[in-house]
Amino acid sequence: MVSQKRKRIGLLTGGGDCPGLNAVIRGVVKSSIGQYNIEVIGFEDGYEGLISRSTIPLTWNKVSGILTQGGTILGTSNRTNPFRWPIDKENDHIIFADVSDQAIDYIHEMGLDSLVCIGGDGTMAIANQLSQKGVHVVGVPKTIDNDIWGTDITFGFNSAMTIATEAIDRIHTTAMSHHRVMIVEVMGRYAGWLALESGIAGGGDVILIPEIPYHIESICETILKRSKKGRRFSIIVISEGAKPIGGKQIIKRMVKESTDPVRLGGISHRLAEEIETKTKLETRVTILGHLQRGGTPTPFDRILATRLGVKAAELCQKGISGIMVAVHGADITTVPLSEIGGKTRLVETDHLLLDVAKKVGTCLGN
Ligand code: F6P
Repeated sequence: MVSQKRKRIGLLTGGGDCPGLNAVIRGVVKSSIGQYNIEVIGFEDGYEGLISRSTIPLTWNKVSGILTQGGTILGTSNRTNPFRWPIDKENDHIIFADVSDQAIDYIHEMGLDSLVCIGGDGTMAIANQLSQKGVHVVGVPKTIDNDIWGTDITFGFNSAMTIATEAIDRIHTTAMSHHRVMIVEVMGRYAGWLALESGIAGGGDVILIPEIPYHIESICETILKRSKKGRRFSIIVISEGAKPIGGKQIIKRMVKESTDPVRLGGISHRLAEEIETKTKLETRVTILGHLQRGGTPTPFDRILATRLGVKAAELCQKGISGIMVAVHGADITTVPLSEIGGKTRLVETDHLLLDVAKKVGTCLGN
């Protein structure tokens, strides 16, 4: 009788972390081992592990108890890209080179049948490039921004949206007591999903998203109208990527090594100054920052992450590659990695949630 070689797959988490990464790792590992007798090897710190050759055997015991843990037991990086690897520095200028062949050699040496890449758009773009070079890749989309093209939702978003909503609830009571205008700035990069959904859930009076540049007069008018009616406080939920009509987004810092070096943040301070000047109402700012990425995933994200992990293992078993697992309605399906690159899933200006927000009297800044 001919004995079949045991399959072996690799797994990495790339890009910014988010709640639910460990739940995916557990989903892939437990179903790979339990259902298909596939061995799983983890790479540390995203694509870095493929170059530095740092691995962790992902056994059943290693992933036991991690379902509810935030972050990723493998570590991650949003700076490492084997196709654009920093090899030298001249003055302040970083020199990059394509070292992807080193990564691919290591994948072959390790005898990996597939590589599962869990990450955001940057991670998926690199996964696609590896796939074009013959590596069997399965992508799993993650991000609190919910902006990955090709999937209706990403895990991590529900957890971040829940954290932002809780923060808005807390801001509400102090805003009411002090009769202040309170601005809550949330993450989300160029997409307004986090601000829009937490803003609706938290009853924001004004919601400002990158897709709809705002008009300062319309915001001040809303606040003053509330004031006249005896509503002596207002809550504004703003995306880090929001900008005034004809204005620019605020860049907080540049991360040179990153494929997408721009880090947004701080628009709420500019808005607060303008509101105070124009309305004479005391205006305070809370920037939620990385709080939105930390801690335990919501039950929704635990279930979604587990479903995606189980599907990724099934695809590895079947030898299907060059795809990203995706959510379409109630189903977990797949989309080709080659179709995802360069696209971002933004809030369409006719999205039904914008209409819902407007109908309950929320100002969208336009
Ligand atoms: O993409 C996730 C995200 O948290 C964005 O919402 C935010 O703009 C960015 O990452 C922050 O990146 P960093 O952790 O590098 O500051």
